[in-house]
Amino acid sequence: MYGPMLRSSPAGPPLVVDLGYGASHITTYELFTRLRRVHRAVEVVGVEIDPERVAAAKPYEREGLSFVRGGFELPVPRCPLVVRAFNVLRQYGEAAAWEHWELMRSRIDPAGVIVEGTCSEVGHRAAWVALGAEGPRTLTFSARFTGFERPSDLAERLPKTLIHRNVPGERVHAFLSDWDRAWATCAPYGSYGSRQRWIKAAELLAQDWPVATTPPDGGRARWRLGELTLPWKAVSP
Ligand SMILES: C[S@@+](CC[C@H](N)C(=O)[O-])C[C@H]1O[C@@H](n2cnc3c(N)ncnc32)[C@H](O)[C@@H]1O
Repeated sequence: MYGPMLRSSPAGPPLVVDLGYGASHITTYELFTRLRRVHRAVEVVGVEIDPERVAAAKPYEREGLSFVRGGFELPVPRCPLVVRAFNVLRQYGEAAAWEHWELMRSRIDPAGVIVEGTCSEVGHRAAWVALGAEGPRTLTFSARFTGFERPSDLAERLPKTLIHRNVPGERVHAFLSDWDRAWATCAPYGSYGSRQRWIKAAELLAQDWPVATTPPDGGRARWRLGELTLPWKAVSP
């Protein structure tokens, strides 16, 4: 999704950070190999707060891929264009999550993006926020079609800044309730498969909510992957 942005980076090789990469360097390495296909000079830095995890990853450094100790202050030589922070903020409180968003936003390239989200252990349910330097832009839900019964099951993966707001009276709760209703209404399309049902439910939901309906964030190409994106302000607390 951010390929065009990486390819058109005006200021030399784009810098990408994988924040809180975890016990193994492998997720950062995979990100690096994928992004090198998008931009042959992209540089990826894995940032981890746990010194043992940094030490374990160091032997895997190579040209364009490095690992450093640090946190939300993003200790890298220049402003990153993309930051991935997956399953990191989950362990913090809501107030801290807002603060960490702000700190990261102040450290990225003005045209850059932070993808901050959580996913289930096997990756079947996920949600992430795209944060720009100016603030949160979008909220995306992603599901494997066999991994849920109703869309609101994805609420367990909401970002820390929203997860406690999934209660009556809050927009995110209204949205998930409407999505469940659209999903139920579209049940007959399930005979063509859950993908068709997801697409039809997204079209129905888009009549009442500003769901992204065109690329790059929305429309059938994203919906058929089990994704759905809407502007942050539609669900913000
Ligand atoms: C659950 S793991 C996530 C690993 C990987 N990102 C993934 O999605 O599979 C969370 C990681 O975040 C790291 N972490 C926690 N707080 C951090 C911070 N402030 N800065 C950098 N890393 C942090 C932890 O040390 C841990 O390795």
